[in-house]
Amino acid sequence: MTSDTAMPNAEPGSSKASLDHHAPNTTWTRAEATSTGAAVEVIDLHKRYGELDAVKGINLSVAPGETFGFLGPNGAGKSTTIKILCTLVAPTSGLAQVAGYDVVKSRNEVRRRIGLVFQDTTLDDYLTAEENLRFHADLYGVPRKAVKSRLQEVMEMVGLWERRKSEVKTFSGGMKRRLEIGRGLLHAPRVLFLDEPTVGLDPQTRSHIWNYIHELRKREDITIFLTTHYMDEAENCDRIAIIDNGQIVAVDTPEALKASIGKDRVEIQTDSNSDTVNALKSHFGLDATESEGVVAFHVSGGEQFVPRLFSELSLPIRSIRVARPTLDDVFMNYTGRTIRDAESSISERMATNPWMRARSRR
Ligand SMILES: Nc1ncnc2c1ncn2[C@@H]1O[C@H](COP(=O)(O)OP(=O)(O)OP(=O)(O)O)[C@@H](O)[C@H]1O
Ligand SMILES: [Mg+2]
Repeated sequence: MTSDTAMPNAEPGSSKASLDHHAPNTTWTRAEATSTGAAVEVIDLHKRYGELDAVKGINLSVAPGETFGFLGPNGAGKSTTIKILCTLVAPTSGLAQVAGYDVVKSRNEVRRRIGLVFQDTTLDDYLTAEENLRFHADLYGVPRKAVKSRLQEVMEMVGLWERRKSEVKTFSGGMKRRLEIGRGLLHAPRVLFLDEPTVGLDPQTRSHIWNYIHELRKREDITIFLTTHYMDEAENCDRIAIIDNGQIVAVDTPEALKASIGKDRVEIQTDSNSDTVNALKSHFGLDATESEGVVAFHVSGGEQFVPRLFSELSLPIRSIRVARPTLDDVFMNYTGRTIRDAESSISERMATNPWMRARSRR
C-alpha cells in the first residue's frame, strides 16, 4: 500500500495539480497501482447521510486498463461511491485507494490522476467548447506548451475539433456529453470516472458515445470506472458490479454473470395457455407463468429442451422462443426484482427523502 509519507509534496487545500510528470500513453508506475496492483481498491466502504446508509460495506478491486461498470437502479449508491473515489465526498468508514493513493489522506495525489464526468452536466453554456477546455486545463495546471496539442487531440477524439469555436449552448445533448468526456481526458488521467455517461440520450447517440469510449481505450492507457442503469450499456464493460441498496450483490464479467444464472428463458404459445402451464408442471416439473398471451419458464439448456417439448407436450405449439439470460435476469436473480421495479419504488422513497425531492426538481 502506498504510504502518504512517500509523497511529501502533496498540496493540501490546492485545487491545482501539476501534470508534467505523467504524459499520456505512459505505462502505470508502481506507485500508481495499489499494493495489490489495482487501479482502484475499495475495502469495506460505508457512507451514511444522516439516518440513511447510502453505501453499506462495499469491497472491490479494479485492474489497470479495465473498464469496470457499476450497474444498479436509482438510489443504489453509484454516484455516492464515485464521489468518494473522486475525493468529493468523505466516506463514513472504510478504505479507498485510486491510482495507489488514499482518497482521504492524499486527495490531491488522487485528483491529479483522475478525470471525472459528472452525472449532471457542468459545462459553461456561454463559453465555446475550446474555452471550456482551456479553463479546465488551467484549473488542472496542464503545462501551457502542452495545452494546444492535447486540446486538439482530445477534441478530435470526441469528434468536436471542427466545432471548437461554437458556444456550448448551440450543442446537442450528445455533443455536450462528448465534450465533457474530452474535458475529463484533457489532463491525461490514469482513471476516468464516468457517472451515467449516456443518461437521457437517444439510442443512436448512446452508441456513438460508446464508440468514443472504445476508441479511447485503444488510444490511451486508461482505466475506466462508470456507472449505468442501462443493461445494454453494462454489456460493454470488462466486468460489472451489480449494486443494489448500497451493497454489491455480484461482480464478474457480463458473460459469467449471465452464465451463473444457468438457465435459459423459454417462451411458448399454444391454443390453451392454462393447459400448457399445467402440462409443464405435471409432465416436466417446471413452474411457468402466463403473461400477455405467452407462457414463459426457465430451464437449463433451453435449445436441447425444445425438441423434448415438441415430442412430449400433447398440445400443438404455435410459436416458441429460447433466449439466453440477460443482465436483467441476473439482477432479478440476485435482488428478487427487476431494475425497472426497483426504480419504480424510488418514487415512494422520494416522498420521505427531502434530498431526493430537491434533486428531482433540478
Ligand atoms: N447529499 C446527500 N444527502 C442526503 N442523501 C443523499 C445525498 N446524496 C445521496 N443521497 C442518498 O443516498 C442514496 C444513494 O444515492 P446515489 O446518488 O449514490 O444513487 P445512484 O445509484 O447514483 O442513483 P441514480 O441512478 O439515481 O443516479 C439515495 O437514497 C440518495 O437519496
Ligand atoms: Mg447517480
